[in-house]
Amino acid sequence: MDGKDIKLRLAGSFTSINDSNNSQYFYDIDSLNSGINFLDEHIIKLSDDRQVDWVVSRICDHASGTLEPCKNNRYAECPLHGWKLDLDKLSYSNVNVTKKKLSFEISNRQVVIHQPKTHLKLPENILSGQQEQDLIIRFLSHACLLFTCDSINIITDPWILGPCFLNGWWHDPAPSSDALDQLLNADLVYISHNHPDHMHEGTLLKLLDQRPDIPIVIPDFKTRSAERPLRNLGFTNIIPLAFNQIHKLGNNDIYISVLKSGDFRDDSGIYLSYGKKQALISVDSSSLNHYVLPTDIDFLATSFAAGASGHPWCFDHYSEDEKLKITHNRHLSVKKSIFQYIETCNPRSYMPYAGYFSEAASRDEYIKKNNIKNLQQTIAEEIHTSHPDVKTINPVDTDRITISSTITAISSDILRPVIGKNEIDSYLDSEQMPNEEVFTNAIQQYFLNCQFQDNLTLYLLPCESDFTPLEKGFIVDFHKLANTSIMQCEDVQFKYNNEQSSHRQLCIKVRAASLWHVIQHHKSWEELSIGFHCRIHRKPDIYNSDFWYHFSNVYIK
Ligand code: FES
Repeated sequence: MDGKDIKLRLAGSFTSINDSNNSQYFYDIDSLNSGINFLDEHIIKLSDDRQVDWVVSRICDHASGTLEPCKNNRYAECPLHGWKLDLDKLSYSNVNVTKKKLSFEISNRQVVIHQPKTHLKLPENILSGQQEQDLIIRFLSHACLLFTCDSINIITDPWILGPCFLNGWWHDPAPSSDALDQLLNADLVYISHNHPDHMHEGTLLKLLDQRPDIPIVIPDFKTRSAERPLRNLGFTNIIPLAFNQIHKLGNNDIYISVLKSGDFRDDSGIYLSYGKKQALISVDSSSLNHYVLPTDIDFLATSFAAGASGHPWCFDHYSEDEKLKITHNRHLSVKKSIFQYIETCNPRSYMPYAGYFSEAASRDEYIKKNNIKNLQQTIAEEIHTSHPDVKTINPVDTDRITISSTITAISSDILRPVIGKNEIDSYLDSEQMPNEEVFTNAIQQYFLNCQFQDNLTLYLLPCESDFTPLEKGFIVDFHKLANTSIMQCEDVQFKYNNEQSSHRQLCIKVRAASLWHVIQHHKSWEELSIGFHCRIHRKPDIYNSDFWYHFSNVYIK
């Protein structure tokens, strides 16, 4: 090592390698019906003269749910978040995403589908220079890991101080007591996306205080949704990295590459190699780089918990049974995705991470009781059964992992101070609201400047923290730019209940103090939805993707 030279230099790009063991599927044509056929892994359309028109995967392009038939096979719907695929157009009706047709051949009256498997490989000039090194990884909190490559320390997604998502998420377990010191002494920080459990303002302000020029690596999203908030905070050494390029850290034997989530969202993961040791963390990404990833790696970490959104428990148009069913399906879908990462990357070790929070404020008791998450013990047991060679690491019990010729995981015995009720109450007590006139004018002005148009009407009801509406509410018609009507909340609710038109309508009850914070500081609306500060009703029941994307990634500071 040559000290603290951590300037990043472009060192090349991954090579894509086709694996020899492609997946193959066979379907007997005579057993298929004319029209749409839902099969285990695929949807196949046969014409009236029994020719195969097209084949698509049944995997939802949002976050790997399984598409189910609905409305006489005119649509396929995903039970996880309600994305709807129009089977005439092969595009989703709630979002500008098209389903990819798969190639197939017909052989012996069978539809044969080859799905090639591809993985990423470092260029030969990098591979040939790599030495044997030991990589040390520490779990500090939630999605915050510390990678130590000899004297170079790299920290990911630091959420260390206080709650996030506007007092909706609280650490569980708490960060290790030295986490802030580790951050302040780090050589490089990676932030995967702009959600506050990854880009946490309170934590970053502490860092800014002492290290405004610390190198912060972020994904180079088109919207600059990760870059703008960091620049606005005042950091001066922000390094947006193009996806899939490999960068070398100074003269050290360390390479990193940022990979994009496989869906339309602004999310990412990071690959890191130190000498011959390779690590990949997918963070919250759905199908990172479409599962085209490095293989035979040493360490893999993915999110595992599910329950990291307000859906379905903050959605009022589902019955309790429907919410339970959606939650159950989501658990299965997240597990399926973990197994797909494991099968793709063939890691020596696996750590479930980025799911260590709880809805600890008493006002969110209903969410806490119902928003059950996958347990890391259950995930570990299932991996142990199906992939006994993969060492599963429970980061809560063993937070220090050394990756050398063997992999050891031990407890660093550093305290994790428990967050008490008084601390929670003091955060809630500090929430602020202006008088009604200031609040109403600010909301009107906010939508006036939003530059968003859509076939959508928003019925917005600011509420007390228990979702009792305040006096004044808003109807925002996005068909024309910024047409906001102010009226009594009961009238807003009445109009929503009785509106029969076919265009999309979204009714959001929202905690007024949380909304005020978002409006005032131009924060992401996902802070409201993911932080459990909304109760949502929508007609029809589809995800209004453009709305959430605009107000979470585009119209923010
Ligand atoms: S995974 Fe299908 S809608 Fe989210």
